[in-house]
Amino acid sequence: MAEIKKVGVLGCGLMGSGIAQVAATAGCTTVVRDVSDAVMAKGKAGIAKSLDKFVEKGKLPAADRDAALARLSYVTDVSALKDCDIIIEAVTEDLDLKNDLWKELDALCPAHTIFASNTSSLTIAAMASATARADRFVGLHFFNPVPLMQLVEVVRTVTTSPATFDRAMAFAKSLGKEAVAAKDNSGFIVNLLLVPYLLDAIRALEHGVASTVDIDNAMKLGCGYPMGPLTLLDFVGNDTTYKIAEIMFTEYRETRYAPPPLLKRMVMAGLYGRKSGKGFYDYAANPPVPVDLGL
Ligand SMILES: NC(=O)c1ccc[n+]([C@@H]2O[C@H](COP(=O)([O-])OP(=O)(O)OC[C@H]3O[C@@H](n4cnc5c(N)ncnc54)[C@H](O)[C@@H]3O)[C@@H](O)[C@H]2O)c1
Repeated sequence: MAEIKKVGVLGCGLMGSGIAQVAATAGCTTVVRDVSDAVMAKGKAGIAKSLDKFVEKGKLPAADRDAALARLSYVTDVSALKDCDIIIEAVTEDLDLKNDLWKELDALCPAHTIFASNTSSLTIAAMASATARADRFVGLHFFNPVPLMQLVEVVRTVTTSPATFDRAMAFAKSLGKEAVAAKDNSGFIVNLLLVPYLLDAIRALEHGVASTVDIDNAMKLGCGYPMGPLTLLDFVGNDTTYKIAEIMFTEYRETRYAPPPLLKRMVMAGLYGRKSGKGFYDYAANPPVPVDLGL
């Protein structure tokens, strides 16, 4: 089984920057592609800050941080990814956008390059079928923040070859992650169960069951979760959750996946969560304070 030495990452947002960081820290030459230098400057700064924190906490030698930073490069030209052993896609949750990239890379990359999507809710089949390498296509679903979260869901669709699945599993483990195998159903394991819970928390807020802070405290203290659902939504990105909910609702036609109107209004207003500075909470304040959503 050929070793994976060079990794391409599509997208340098929340997830792409985290995936690039763990790949480079694990020793892979890593090329990250996003649409503009300005977006990448933000991702690059985030990676440097995160690696510095690992060093400060004594979890990573300073020399390893420097080596990881030296293994990373940032490009806007897709063709710079053409000689990668694996390409992991973490761009905005939009099938047409993702497939335009996959088609372009399918024509550029050699036969051995594995294509892997970090999608939260699209099926791997919907992307694999747009390429001529459906047997070398998998899902690699990481969790946010990638450098801290242990899990990766490794997803085999109907066309994925056993050899490709084994290489993807071995790669996920080589990054120091715990890997679980999942079937190619929308949401895999975690989001199949988590998304209805998060959407129900928004519905509870919308229907006046309790305040933002009380909903979060109830689930945190009552269930022993590390954070409440509305805080978690702000971490994930409300724009991303909205897209995920739409995709899962279309797939399953079950109301538990339907995005609540409040979520839609918040996305229209740019209340994306931590990444835009405001969501269910306002992050200009320390500690963050709940946003008045006019409920
Ligand atoms: N946010 C989460 O907690 C989470 C967890 C697991 C998986 N995901 C999935 O990861 C993917 C990315 O989510 P995110 O939270 O990082 O979103 P994000 O909005 O933080 O980042 C998406 C990035 O994709 C970039 N992009 C858009 N078009 C591009 C293109 N043509 N080429 C390269 N880059 C392009 C954008 O500029 C942006 O930087 C989505 O599929 C999402 O469902 C998200």
